[in-house]
Amino acid sequence: MAEEIKIKENKIRALIFLVLLALIGIGSASASQCTDCHTSITPMIVEDFQSGAMSDNIDCSNCHGSNHNSADTVDKVEFPTHQTCGACHAAQDSQYMDGKHSIAWAALFAPPTTTDQPKELMEGQKGCGGCHKIGAKDSTGWEDYHYGIVGCDNCHTRHSFSVEEARRPEACLPCHQGFDHAQWEMYSTSKHGVIYQIEGDKWNWTTQLDKAGSSYTAPTCQLCHMKDGDHAVLTSWGFLGVRVEEPDNEWMEDRVSVLKSYGVFDADGNPTARFDLVKDAKLARLTMDEWNAPREEMISTCSECHSEEFAKNSLAEGDHIIRECDRIYADSIETVAALYRDGVLPEPEYIDELPSYPYTDVLRFYDQATPIELDLWHMMMEYRMRAFQSTFHANPDYTQWYGWAPLKETAVRIKAEDERLRAEVETSGNTGPSESTASSPGLGMLFSVVSFVILSIILRRRREQNPR
Ligand code: HEC
Ligand code: HEC
Ligand code: HEC
Ligand code: HEC
Ligand code: HEC
Ligand code: HEC
Ligand code: HEC
Ligand code: HEC
Repeated sequence: MAEEIKIKENKIRALIFLVLLALIGIGSASASQCTDCHTSITPMIVEDFQSGAMSDNIDCSNCHGSNHNSADTVDKVEFPTHQTCGACHAAQDSQYMDGKHSIAWAALFAPPTTTDQPKELMEGQKGCGGCHKIGAKDSTGWEDYHYGIVGCDNCHTRHSFSVEEARRPEACLPCHQGFDHAQWEMYSTSKHGVIYQIEGDKWNWTTQLDKAGSSYTAPTCQLCHMKDGDHAVLTSWGFLGVRVEEPDNEWMEDRVSVLKSYGVFDADGNPTARFDLVKDAKLARLTMDEWNAPREEMISTCSECHSEEFAKNSLAEGDHIIRECDRIYADSIETVAALYRDGVLPEPEYIDELPSYPYTDVLRFYDQATPIELDLWHMMMEYRMRAFQSTFHANPDYTQWYGWAPLKETAVRIKAEDERLRAEVETSGNTGPSESTASSPGLGMLFSVVSFVILSIILRRRREQNPR
């Protein structure tokens, strides 16, 4: 009996399918050609596309062209760019181009060592490029790596290109996670994210954010960062957590050290060539007005649920944490720079690529010459990031134990390493790289190094004699 019903159901399904195919065939000859063949070649892709809103109106060839129609012409397949989508979705495309996501390829190639990495990690999308492919590309110049061009399909994944999927906070997860930008971990274990996990099933996912928002009992990433569906994502502090104008003078002093470690200022505090890159790739807000605009918008979003006072306070506390982190980080930056200046560390081979020598360029990431510089990089890229990003994402555990605590621990390690290196130079009688003349320390410098070492030995002895 059940068997019979199943057979009947299958027959009806097949009939409907045939009628549908015929209808599509009447509508457009090329449509049936692509889907006909691809129903057996890539059945899941056809099914996925047909489950989405666009299949009623457009066809495979709208995005892939019509020059390929058999196994022999696969090299004639075209791939869409954001402009292909933009031809029908101009508003979303121009918002996307105004925001940070479209610049992600430019940001990726801004650090000096990215061209030294295996190409698979970049254009092959197995590492950095796997996330930065949200950036805008045009169709030229990528012959070896022609996938990963469109940007838009990172949130509206192919081939359903669903808007509901893009409204879910998990849509941001593949990229906004992990080592240096753990926004997913911070959000999903914060009060906001936990309420989403408990109550999210009851929220309205089919309606646009500006209307559906009232069914949300806690915010999503999209509610805070894509207000009213605006695709132009941008925050006040950004990833690097620096702004160029700074009303707080003491903080500015530390900020200058931070900007030297990013290679944005040279050793004397003047802008380097990288400063222009910061402007072009919007890596930092240049004026307080630029910084205030997204902040005010954010406060108005928080105020949909909280008091404005609560929201302002909460965000200002986040700002203060950046200042506190900068105090500690700046000290360590100066400690390492002094090691180069005093010739305790030999000039690195790549000195010509360092825009701020004797300052370490932390944007070289893990490609540093010495362990003490790796520590410095961890302070910036891992602990400072986590400490401040988590304050904005309401996650006290991240702030305290994954940010602030290891930041301070690393500062201690850097100090100890500084003392050890200086003592080593002293005992070996080697006062720096003898082959280098250009930056060899003068007698005065030598004297101060020697007296520093003697002082630290005396201090250490005294500490050993008086263990607490
Ligand atoms: C007669 C069969 C046939 C027809 C008709 C056909 N294709 Fe294909 N298509 C193929 C085969 C075979 C491949 C290679 C599949 C593979 O690599 O596994 C392919 C691959 C593709 C790819 C992937 C290319 C890549 O580099 O990854 C796209 C996109 C594509 N076809 C789109 C289309 C579109 C659009 C049409 C209609 C204009 C179409 N196809 C018509 C057989 C066909
Ligand atoms: C030839 C025109 C055309 C092109 C090209 C096009 N779209 Fe669409 N798109 C449409 C139409 C028509 C709809 C249906 C609109 C509706 O139902 O209101 C749509 C709907 C959508 C939706 C809403 C889906 C939903 O679940 O409601 C998204 C998201 C989308 N498109 C993304 C894209 C992306 C990304 C690209 C490029 C990879 C793209 N579109 C290319 C015409 C196009
Ligand atoms: C897991 C995904 C992922 C990987 C892998 C990844 N990034 Fe990113 N990257 C991001 C995200 C997300 C941001 C934005 C983070 C933020 O604003 O908090 C970002 C930001 C950046 C920025 C700063 C842009 C700005 O506007 O301040 C640079 C530069 C960068 N990445 C370079 C790289 C390099 C180089 C690599 C490889 C060594 C890499 N990224 C690997 C996801 C990734
Ligand atoms: C709205 C634009 C759009 C439409 C319509 C579209 N595709 Fe695609 N397709 C894409 C994008 C974007 C990619 C990813 C390319 C990349 O990685 O850069 C892609 C990739 C592919 C690939 C190779 C990647 C893979 O996962 O195997 C195949 C095969 C493919 N499409 C087949 C089809 C078929 C068949 C249809 C029609 C049923 C279709 N596409 C309709 C945008 C589209
Ligand atoms: C309650 C609102 C809210 C939610 C929910 C939220 N964010 Fe944020 N996000 C903020 C605020 C506030 C900032 C800091 C803005 C500033 O610089 O003033 C921020 C900053 C960011 C930044 C810049 C770097 C940083 O972390 O400071 C990125 C990237 C980001 N959020 C991504 C996400 C992602 C992805 C999610 C979801 C997993 C998410 N956010 C959830 C409010 C939110
Ligand atoms: C960072 C994730 C993300 C990216 C990247 C993205 N979108 Fe969206 N998109 C969304 C979200 C979230 C919504 C829902 C907005 C709302 O509900 O108001 C949306 C909505 C849409 C809609 C439906 C608008 C409507 O009112 O129904 C279209 C069409 C669309 N996007 C096209 C695009 C195109 C084209 C691109 C690339 C230029 C793109 N999106 C890139 C997240 C994204
Ligand atoms: C495919 C990876 C990817 C996905 C998915 C993704 N992002 Fe991003 N996002 C990035 C990268 C890479 C950057 C840094 C781009 C740059 O600075 O040039 C970034 C930057 C941002 C920024 C700007 C931070 C700043 O510097 O001011 C915000 C906000 C943001 N993303 C929010 C989101 C939200 C919300 C979602 C989900 C709806 C999302 N992103 C989905 C990769 C992604
Ligand atoms: C859609 C509503 C909504 C939005 C928008 C929203 N929140 Fe919340 N938030 C809540 C709810 C609900 C709670 C849990 C109950 C409570 O503590 O008030 C919460 C809790 C918090 C907490 C933890 C308080 C505690 O007692 O543990 C902080 C901090 C917070 N929100 C900050 C913000 C900030 C800052 C913004 C804007 C960037 C924001 N929220 C936007 C709904 C929202």
